[in-house]
This record gives sequence, structure tokens and C-alpha cells, in this order.
Amino acid sequence: MSSRSKKRAYVETYGCQMNISDGELMEGILEGRGYRIVDAPEDADVVLVNTCAIRDHAEKRVLGRVAQLNGLRRERPGMVLGVTGCMAQRMGEALLEQAPYVDLVMGPDGYRGLPEALARLDADVPIVERPRGKKRGPQLAVLQLDMDENYQGLEQRRTEGPTAWVPIQRGCDHRCTYCIVPYVRGGEKNRSAVEILDEVRALAEGGVSEVTLLGQTVNSYVWEAVSFPQLLRRVAQVDGIRRVRYTSPHPNDVTPELVAVMAEEPAVCEHLHLPAQAGNDRTLKRMLRRYTVESLLQKIDMVRAAMPDIALSTDIIVAFPGETDEEFRDTLDLMRGVRFDDAFTYKYSPRDGTPATRLPEGDFIDPDVAQTRLEELINVSRAIQAEINESEVGRVEEVLIEGAGRDEGQVRGRTGRNKVVVFDGSAERIGEYTEVVLERTTGATFSGAEVDAKVAVSM
Ligand code: SAH
Ligand code: SF4
Ligand code: F3S
Repeated sequence: MSSRSKKRAYVETYGCQMNISDGELMEGILEGRGYRIVDAPEDADVVLVNTCAIRDHAEKRVLGRVAQLNGLRRERPGMVLGVTGCMAQRMGEALLEQAPYVDLVMGPDGYRGLPEALARLDADVPIVERPRGKKRGPQLAVLQLDMDENYQGLEQRRTEGPTAWVPIQRGCDHRCTYCIVPYVRGGEKNRSAVEILDEVRALAEGGVSEVTLLGQTVNSYVWEAVSFPQLLRRVAQVDGIRRVRYTSPHPNDVTPELVAVMAEEPAVCEHLHLPAQAGNDRTLKRMLRRYTVESLLQKIDMVRAAMPDIALSTDIIVAFPGETDEEFRDTLDLMRGVRFDDAFTYKYSPRDGTPATRLPEGDFIDPDVAQTRLEELINVSRAIQAEINESEVGRVEEVLIEGAGRDEGQVRGRTGRNKVVVFDGSAERIGEYTEVVLERTTGATFSGAEVDAKVAVSM
């Protein structure tokens, strides 16, 4: 095929890192089958919206975007509009009904067959025949979850740069009562450690120096005799890898062995994202998180004893059904007690089919109350973040330059402790490591100056 006659595909991804990594996987699969990946839907023959189902708000936004892309589809006969990912899996054929202009819905376990599905659409041979009005062709739904599909042998198309995400696990074996993930991504499936290490080595040879291992409960990973701590150590020891991160761990699988690997391996970053969800035992129990506040605090103590300087971040849900004001205050106390460097905070959003939706109707929290709790939590967590970051002004930290800054002549990077820093520098230096003194903070991020540059100026 000449490059002119190549079909062009555009993938737009929403949601978590796992899903972004899946978007890269789809691009890799399509590119491997002769498609050209383009950066704008206007330039594409195939437009895929790779969706998230975690909260209602996320879904509504994406449905709006899909409707908007239908405008483009109307102007461009022959354009295929597909919806993939978690919302596609959750809504399934209902999405084809609700948005009749969507040609394809495909869940997270269907991507290996994406080129075939697109070819079938081209040839008008759908799997699910849906006769429509005269002007409409057939639609196609690929929604089978597959316990054996871990995309072995396939690789993502990664954008160039010093950092890369490496999925090591798909799905989740937990059943937190608020969460849709196990229903749209199925049970936990781990990739072969051999394949993961080969991939990391190839990335390092290609110039990547920081990898982030991905999974929904990434630290429950086990493959044959290889546990997560063992895998982490081996990844950290790959030549050329200077930084390793992982997300998201489940608190219950934060073990002494894992903490030891983090403390011993210089390449493992001093940052841990530890989703707490709530700071009250009754709420945690009803969320089916399988830990208590006390055991969570013990884990944090263990981590800090081994790495006193570690940065901690978390996820919190407020207004879970039945959460009393007093129980919400316990969550604030947890925040004040632990002092997380960063917190991702959410209002509970009911997801159809999850156990929490079956709690007594009277338990569901008034939206105004939920909003007030969220704002209070955000205020507390931002104030703590600002205090911590202000106390770090003056430190010298190693920064990996990851991209251009917002202003001309500036670059943006991150410290090992996952703090974002901007400073003067040329975008040609993306991928370099440099020592930076943290000079100012907005509360959330820093601006600074390179130590070498300072010396040069003062000489
Ligand atoms: N596997 C990861 C979480 C993935 S979802 C983990 O266990 O940490 C990311 C975050 O979204 C969760 O940590 C939780 O805080 C939030 N979340 C999940 N379901 C939600 C819901 N129904 N409403 C609001 N927030 C939710
Ligand atoms: Fe969802 Fe819980 Fe699994 Fe995380 S551990 S993906 S919150 S079910
Ligand atoms: Fe969303 Fe699916 Fe990730 S529901 S958070 S994109 S696993």
C-alpha cells in the first residue's frame, strides 16, 4: 500500500493510565496492520473514542464528544466512528441504540481483533446486524470479555520521549462496592514477567529511562514464581532505566518485601500512590476495601520508616451512601494525620450494576451535601500540599526534563518524588536529568533553576 492509500486512524482516549496505555495499544495494532495514525479526527478515516466509565460525569462528557464527532462523520462519508474502552463495554449495544451514528462499540478485550472488525464494517459484514434507516449501514458490537487476553505479543505505539507506561496487569479481582472496573475489565490477568522485562529492555535501548508499571492493583501482580516486588527489582536493574514508578497499588499488598525493594533499589522512585478512599472503618467496610484505618496507618508507618522522605498521594471518595458527617470528619482526620503530598478527590457516583447502588435509597447523600464535603476535603488537602511544598523550597532535586514549559524558553520536569518543576531551559534537552533547586511553589507545583546554570551565572 502506498502511504497515500493507507487508511488513517485517530484514537482519542479518556480515563486512567491503563486506558491511555490501551489507546497506545490500539494505535500499535492498527499501525502494524497498515494504518497511518494521525493527530486529528478531521484527517482520519477511522475515529475511535476510547472511553472511561468510572463516574457518570466522565461518561456524559464523552457521549457529548461522540455526538460532536458525528457532525464530522456526516460531512465525511465513509468515516467510521467507533467507541472503545470501559464505557463501550458497560453500555454495549445500548450505546448503538442511543447513538445510532456509532458504527462500532468494542470493549477492552477486543482490540486484537480491531483490524478485522474494521474490515468487516468496510465489507458490511457485522457481527451484530442492526437494520436501520435507509441511509445507515450496519453496526458492530464486540463485547466479549476474555480471561486469556493479555495482549501478549502486541505492543503499544508510544509517543517519543524519556518516559513510558508498561501495562503488567489487566482487570481486577477486587469488588469495591462503588467500582465499575471489574465489570468492564474482568478479573485480574497478569502478563509474563519475561515479556515485561524484554519490553523494558527494548524501551531502554530506545532511549526511555523512566517506566511506570501499570495495573488496577498492580502490586498483587504474580506470574509463575515472580511476585511484584521481584518484578519491580528486576525492572529497576535493567540497564538504562533510571526511574521506575508503579500505579495503582492496593494497600493490602504493600508488604515488607515490597517496601524493602523500594528502599534498596535506587531506580525505584520515592513516591507511593496509596488509594485510601476513606478514613472511617464503617465506610471502608461498606466499600469492601478489606482494610481498616489502623492497618492502613501501619502500612504508611512501615513505608515511612524505610523511606522517611517518600512522597505519598491518595484517592478519596466522599459521600459514599450512608456516610455520616462524623464519618466524613474521620476522612479529614486521616488527611491531616497522614499529610499526603497529593490527593485525587471524588464525589461518589452511582454506577449501574455495582453493589453500592443497591444500598437503601435513604442512604444516598444529597448532592449539595456531597459537594460541600468535596470542597472541604479539597481545601484541607490543598492546604496540606501547599505547606509541604513550601517546606521543600530550597531543596535541590534531580529532575527529568519531560517537556516544554508553558512559557517560551522553559522546560517542565518531575522529581523522583513526583513533583512538577518548571525552569529555564531549551526543549532540546527533553530526556536529560539535571539538578534543580526548588525556588518557589504555587502550592501544587514548583519553579526552580538548574544548579549548574546558577554556578555558570555566578562565575
Ligand atoms: N484500581 C485503582 C482505582 C481505579 S479507579 C485502585 O484501587 O486504587 C480510580 C479512582 O476512582 C478510585 O481510586 C476511586 O477513588 C475513584 N472511583 C472509583 N469508582 C468511583 C465511583 N463510583 N464514584 C466516585 N469515585 C470513584
Ligand atoms: Fe475498583 Fe477496587 Fe478494583 Fe480499584 S481495587 S479497580 S477501586 S474494584
Ligand atoms: Fe475509567 Fe476504565 Fe480506567 S473505567 S478509570 S478507563 S479502567
